[in-house]
Amino acid sequence: MCGIVGYIGQDNALDYLINSLRVLEYRGYDSSGIAIYSPEGHIEIIKAKGKLNNLIELTKQNSQKGKIGIGHTRWATQGIPSDINAHPHADSDSEVAIVHNGIIHNFHELKEELIKNSQIIFTSDTDSEVIAHLLGLELKKGLSLKDSMLNIIKKIKGSYALAAISKSDPDTIILTCHDAPIVIGIGKEKDLFCASDSAALLQYTNKIIRLKDKQVAQLKPNGEFLIFDGKTSKQIAPQIQVLNADPVSLDKAGYKHFLLKEINEQPAILRKLLAHHLNDNLEIEFPELDKTLLDNINRILICGCGTAFYAGLMGKIVLETLAKIPVEIEFASELLSREILVDPKTLVIAISQSGETADTLLAVKAALKKGAKLLAITNRPDSTLSALAERANIFIQAGIEVSVAATKSFTAQMFCLYLFAIKLAENYKSIPSEQLNWLKNELRYLPQIMEQTLARGETYREKILPYAQLKAFVFLGRSFNYPIALEGALKFKELTYIQATGYAAGEMKHGPIATIDETTPTLSILLPGLTYHKTLHNCIEAKTRGAPSLGIIDDSDKEARQELHTIFEVPALPFSEEYKDFQDLFSPFISVLPLQLIAYYLAEHLGKDVDQPRNLAKSVTVE
Ligand code: G6P
Repeated sequence: MCGIVGYIGQDNALDYLINSLRVLEYRGYDSSGIAIYSPEGHIEIIKAKGKLNNLIELTKQNSQKGKIGIGHTRWATQGIPSDINAHPHADSDSEVAIVHNGIIHNFHELKEELIKNSQIIFTSDTDSEVIAHLLGLELKKGLSLKDSMLNIIKKIKGSYALAAISKSDPDTIILTCHDAPIVIGIGKEKDLFCASDSAALLQYTNKIIRLKDKQVAQLKPNGEFLIFDGKTSKQIAPQIQVLNADPVSLDKAGYKHFLLKEINEQPAILRKLLAHHLNDNLEIEFPELDKTLLDNINRILICGCGTAFYAGLMGKIVLETLAKIPVEIEFASELLSREILVDPKTLVIAISQSGETADTLLAVKAALKKGAKLLAITNRPDSTLSALAERANIFIQAGIEVSVAATKSFTAQMFCLYLFAIKLAENYKSIPSEQLNWLKNELRYLPQIMEQTLARGETYREKILPYAQLKAFVFLGRSFNYPIALEGALKFKELTYIQATGYAAGEMKHGPIATIDETTPTLSILLPGLTYHKTLHNCIEAKTRGAPSLGIIDDSDKEARQELHTIFEVPALPFSEEYKDFQDLFSPFISVLPLQLIAYYLAEHLGKDVDQPRNLAKSVTVE
């Protein structure tokens, strides 16, 4: 989604801005722009619809020499993607330029006032432009850019991360935020940076300061920065954080797309998580988790959005199966639609790859207000979510996920939830210790079997391509493979733009079966376990009505392969009669792989933008 970058120092700002925007491309955007304060004393704004390369081409036509600048990638919310609606926005006299992430909820009201009382002429359809005009009017009163910002944040309502530069206060970048992240990066040579996502800065520095809500920061070219409380205008001491993260690698490591690279990284990530959490004595440890977190809880509520929500759904199933604790799960956006019923005995588990998804953060804040305990499962230790959870984080350690469609973060989230569920089962003694030890041992086989599955990618490709012209697919799964059917369908539609719906297989005959005909294939997950036969029956019911039947089966399968038109075979997981109740417990880690791969290969075959599918954003920072 939208991204902000900024540079102030002794070098030309342009290269820093472009390099930082390059990193932010992964978040998904539809236009980009920069504003640089030039040595001639004016603000030069360049912006372009479409890919960053369009902007870079335009910058080649001029020589931007300024040492202070801000930049933006925009994902349209208010106003279509266009050159005009792209950020930065300026006030009428081009006195000030701003970049904004978020949504100004009272922008209609503010816009009307600005038109009526100050005869402002708006040039874009964005909500963000009001900020530039409001700042412009404050500057005209003779205020500094910092004081202007302190004044206008009392008027604007909504979510925002903001960076601004001005002609009248030329040696300054001013930042502020509310319900949207922004960080200052402290460079080595007195350079200062800013970004809405610290990933953009890691190539220059790992020393950051995360602004808190309604704080205002003032950055100067000599490396000095000051932070003020937005309510009292008083200066406050900065809290510097040193990130333990490598610069974002934009190297595809020989793969055609980041997505394929990330799909193939999954076994290694699980190995890393095993090494971090499971010691040689088969003890599960969560070093980043405050031990008191689990004291006195009687209820778990999981929330997240998109793929993270589906990982959460898997969490619910595995926590209930192993720890025998009732778990509710809700889309974060739905939790925000009514009163959130939590209390100090509720453990809220918030799952978010980015740790910056607006709905998830707002739901978490609402739950924290009511005294709930919070456990964050995130890929980003430097995120807002992680900061909210303080000492109750589980980091999924998946490394930066560049492709917009989530793959490796999903399996890593699931894996952490499995580890957590086993740990809880141990604490609550909800299942016998020998069974738990067996489960822990089984976890260790997963990366290897995942590798064997991924090695079959080409076969999956050949098998899905004949279905490329069809317009709708139905994905079916039960129990542990129900969330996988949902996630498989989500991946399929995100990447191929073909309609795909996931169902709990048992629900098929309660409605969805009406959509079935010879042009609507079903893709069923038919791995061994307690629900195998029931799912197979649902698949046959659809087949009987003409649906081409596709299925994920394992090498040992004898029955389903006879019923299916197309099979996607995966290696069989180790099986022990003694533990047959858990036979399908781990199969999601295997069944999800062919689903990710067929979505990838079909999208690639159809010529889709695999790494940045249309209309999608990696990190959705608005409600
Ligand atoms: C967006 C992305 C999805 C992601 C969801 C939640 O919609 O396109 O891939 O699953 O946000 O993101 P989070 O960072 O909170 O996991």
